[in-house]
Amino acid sequence: MSTKVTLIPGDGIGPSISRATVRLLEAAGADIEWDEHVAGMSAVAKYGDPIPDETLDSIKRTRIALKGPLETPVGEGYRSINVALRKSFDLYANVRPAYSILPGGRYQNLDLVLVRENTEGLYVGIEHYIKIGDDPRAAAEAIAIITREGSERIVRYAFEYAVKHNRKKVTLVHKANILKFAQGLFLDVGRMVARDYAGRIEFEERIVDAMAMNLVLHPERFDVIVTTNLFGDILSDQISGLVGGLGLAPGANIGKHGAIFEAVHGTAPDIAGKNIANPGALMLAACMMLEHLGDDDRARRLRRAIEQTVREGKTVTRDLGGSATTDQFTEAIIAKL
Ligand code: NAI
Repeated sequence: MSTKVTLIPGDGIGPSISRATVRLLEAAGADIEWDEHVAGMSAVAKYGDPIPDETLDSIKRTRIALKGPLETPVGEGYRSINVALRKSFDLYANVRPAYSILPGGRYQNLDLVLVRENTEGLYVGIEHYIKIGDDPRAAAEAIAIITREGSERIVRYAFEYAVKHNRKKVTLVHKANILKFAQGLFLDVGRMVARDYAGRIEFEERIVDAMAMNLVLHPERFDVIVTTNLFGDILSDQISGLVGGLGLAPGANIGKHGAIFEAVHGTAPDIAGKNIANPGALMLAACMMLEHLGDDDRARRLRRAIEQTVREGKTVTRDLGGSATTDQFTEAIIAKL
């Protein structure tokens, strides 16, 4: 029976890389029935809302979406797309794998996965100005919320991910030496969860500043990394940089009520409509989606075809050092299947 998946093509280069990804999945024989809906600027044009209810309703039905990059409209009166999606589906885990595909980079044979807590921490949006004397904005205060439940589910997600993907180690990144309560709670809960996996998955702790340095000096020492929202935001882009940038960086947002797979990069307005965008990141996101659906073999086959095409370097897009169009690159990958 085919699986229904919500497809949000997105803005800018989104429709082009989404089309390429759908073509690849069809060529690989994935039995998916797409339920296509708009979001971002294309949705503002059609519905006056960047994240229309009918798009949210579709994800509520399918519980799984593949999403192209979206342009968030500037100005008041529009709902934030990411906040609406995160809230509607409680997308608490942001999963960002990074592994070396391109030859000749600074690091070879890297294979890291960062699991970022997506709903708590300093990004909960509780902040205000404090008036002192005549200055209404003399100070500003932002509050970080860390809960036992939120910490437990994200650390457990990281360990379960490690078990499922035959990984060896989980590194918990924190700043509990300074933020003794908020970060301390995250660390305590993490240690408690780690005990459930003792003997199966190795566990280690790192303070975030030392971790940033270690990721540059010895990235090969890490495997699965789990951390709170703000640190995860920063370190996930850092690990994308270790393997050559955002062009081949996929991401997944996983929640209790749904999962959304996407490329990490944006809408690339400078190259939109030119048929030269690299669809690789969205294709790799689609591989994560297939794994989520339990179709591991097909995901492996697709990933291998993408990797081989990129490593050969003959028919790759401009950002990967070639001169192929989006369509030619896609055809080269399909030929490898
Ligand atoms: P961007 O990632 O769109 O572009 C940065 C640079 O990378 C540009 O030079 C672009 O041409 C290049 N690039 C990005 N993806 C590429 C691809 N697949 N193939 C070849 N080259 C690629 O970031 P920028 O310019 O900061 O943001 C543009 C728009 O995207 C903004 O409206 C932003 O809000 C949105 N955005 C959306 C995201 C999402 O929906 N997940 C994530 C990041 C940004």
